[in-house]
Amino acid sequence: MSYHNPYTPPRKSATFDDYTLAEIRRAAATGIYDIRGAGTKRKVPHFDDLLFLGASISRYPLEGYREKCDTSVVLGSRYAKKPIVLKTPITIAGMSFGALSGNAKEALGRGATIAGTSTTTGDGGMTDEERGHSQTLVYQYLPSRYGMNPKDLRRADAIEIVVGQGAKPGGGGMLLGQKISDRVANMRNLPKGIDQRSACRHPDWTGPDDLEIKIMELREITDWEKPIYVKVGGARPYYDTALAVKAGADVVVLDGMQGGTAATQDVFIENVGMPTLACIRPAVQALQDLGMHRKVQLIISGGIRSGADVAKALALGADAVAIGTAALVAIGDNDPHWEEEYQKLGTTAGAYDDWHEGKDPAGITTQDPELSKRLDPVAAGRRLANYLKVMTLEAQTIARACGKNHLHNLEPEDLVALTIEASAMAQVPLAGTSWIPGKGGF
Ligand SMILES: Cc1cc2nc3c(=O)[nH]c(=O)nc-3n(C[C@H](O)[C@H](O)[C@H](O)COP(=O)(O)O)c2cc1C
Repeated sequence: MSYHNPYTPPRKSATFDDYTLAEIRRAAATGIYDIRGAGTKRKVPHFDDLLFLGASISRYPLEGYREKCDTSVVLGSRYAKKPIVLKTPITIAGMSFGALSGNAKEALGRGATIAGTSTTTGDGGMTDEERGHSQTLVYQYLPSRYGMNPKDLRRADAIEIVVGQGAKPGGGGMLLGQKISDRVANMRNLPKGIDQRSACRHPDWTGPDDLEIKIMELREITDWEKPIYVKVGGARPYYDTALAVKAGADVVVLDGMQGGTAATQDVFIENVGMPTLACIRPAVQALQDLGMHRKVQLIISGGIRSGADVAKALALGADAVAIGTAALVAIGDNDPHWEEEYQKLGTTAGAYDDWHEGKDPAGITTQDPELSKRLDPVAAGRRLANYLKVMTLEAQTIARACGKNHLHNLEPEDLVALTIEASAMAQVPLAGTSWIPGKGGF
């Protein structure tokens, strides 16, 4: 006879929660791993776990309406004859044409240009619309070499050598067949409609010495004019930053594990890499140890959403940040306006992450000509510019409240942490104490 316990409700396992059970069943039914877009969905320590202190008696705030707080940044001042000068330290991260529609790429260029910042190409090359509408365009040089050509290297304003991405350090890119249109195939010199997997490492280098040679080649091909960035996924930020600097980088781009992707294995997105928050201080330490902080600029990305995030990244020592996912949301991705269509795809606006499938109702992560037409690049560009303006103003407001007349004057001393984890990672004291784990204090 079965025994029914009338006192306690059925208890679900925290280890085998509903999502985990469903994923085991999905794997058992299909025999394939899950691929998706976007970044880490589980909660890891992040900028939300930090707070600014603001000024009071011991610090003197700046008056918002009368006293200036500069937001400009110069990127590539180490060797490049033509460094990049931006009005705001918020740049648009590299996102490929192929992953994104031509209209989306154009919208990013338009928005960045209005806001006085840069945008970046991606795996798959530079489109004419993107070049034409981006005042400052960074050209990615990737392991895949898809869309790479020397002419575009020279048309760019800076070059970003991609070693890795935060969503998948050590992994390569993916673009599934349904998004390989004639134009995408043509730009990548590959057949239409067939899944493309990009290499996880550059074919012609086996270590940091080869990176040095590569940087030198790119400088020569561009007459030492363009800043050379090196982008790495957050894995070993101290040593990766130090090696990039030694190899001759003008700028290091460090992308934490929350960083978005167009298409990667879920197991990779959720389990490989370091939280953005944990990457910044070791990278800054490496720059300081080499006497290169502020001489080689540091761009941080991975989960940046607001002016507060920007201010926190800068206070921890970054020179600028890059945004991917938030820029896509600003131009219209995952918008509840398309909810009915998201539901037909078996999802909901806020959770939609099948960016690799090319069926994006908002016309952004697709190559379908009908869907792409839904995105008006002019209006979308304006939305992005508004968003960038708001974030810049938010960061400025915080900086003034901390008594700083430039965003770069924010410092770790302006911050406290809400959790022990964030305190250890950001190396700022736990709120209400002077204690930093591993460093003493009361
Ligand atoms: C749709 C999409 C496409 C991307 N394509 C590339 C790419 O081609 N090359 C690259 O280095 N990173 C790529 N990324 C990663 C971004 O450059 C950036 O590192 C990341 O989006 C930053 O994190 P965030 O999305 O949380 O802002 C892509 C990201 C997204 C969302």
